[in-house]
Amino acid sequence: MRLRAITLDETAAIDLVAQRMRATLVEVEGEQAGGGMYSMDWLRDRVRWHLDGRAAAVVVAQDPAGAIVGHTIYRIETSADGTPFGLVSTTYVVPEARRLGVAQQLLEHAESWFRARGLPQCCTWTSSTNAPLIALYTRNGFALAERASNELTRTPMVRLAKQLTAR
Ligand SMILES: CC(C)(COP(=O)(O)OP(=O)(O)OC[C@H]1O[C@@H](n2cnc3c(N)ncnc32)[C@H](O)[C@@H]1OP(=O)(O)O)[C@@H](O)C(=O)NCCC(=O)NCCS
Repeated sequence: MRLRAITLDETAAIDLVAQRMRATLVEVEGEQAGGGMYSMDWLRDRVRWHLDGRAAAVVVAQDPAGAIVGHTIYRIETSADGTPFGLVSTTYVVPEARRLGVAQQLLEHAESWFRARGLPQCCTWTSSTNAPLIALYTRNGFALAERASNELTRTPMVRLAKQLTAR
């Protein structure tokens, strides 16, 4: 599997990632809640926003034939006290390529990027019912750090966090 960061001029890849962000919402929240949450235009803009020169990356996993079978998006955020941290915003792997370690590779890629930038902590948010993602992060040393309600879906969300440098 080849991982690479996409750029703002890759319209087809941006479109594909946006479609799969929608597929993620549908899979995690259901067709009704997830499908209607954001328009395709909003999702495409959201992908482009990450490619706009900010401290962020949209990374795709390509199989040997060149097909994009997964992606992840991550960026640097700043907490209320001014401390920067790494946030994995989303991850998706097509059903046919699951349980082959693609998401594991994408997560390792994100974590290396965060470590290279000296970030003390990284985290992700997901639905409390998303057992596959929670299992993936737990095996990578992340622990439950926070629970919150989701205004759009009412499904409880969990924040999974990992310390990268000694406190
Ligand atoms: C969650 C998701 C990204 C995992 O992708 P994947 O490439 O299949 O994951 P990997 O093969 O790298 O799995 C690595 C480990 O994570 C855990 N894991 C992954 N999928 C799992 C599942 N369905 N059930 C239990 N554990 C799972 C396992 O520990 C697994 O290791 P193992 O296969 O040796 O047991 C994928 O199922 C997906 O795209 N789901 C829909 C989108 C989604 O929920 N995204 C996150 C939204 S915040």
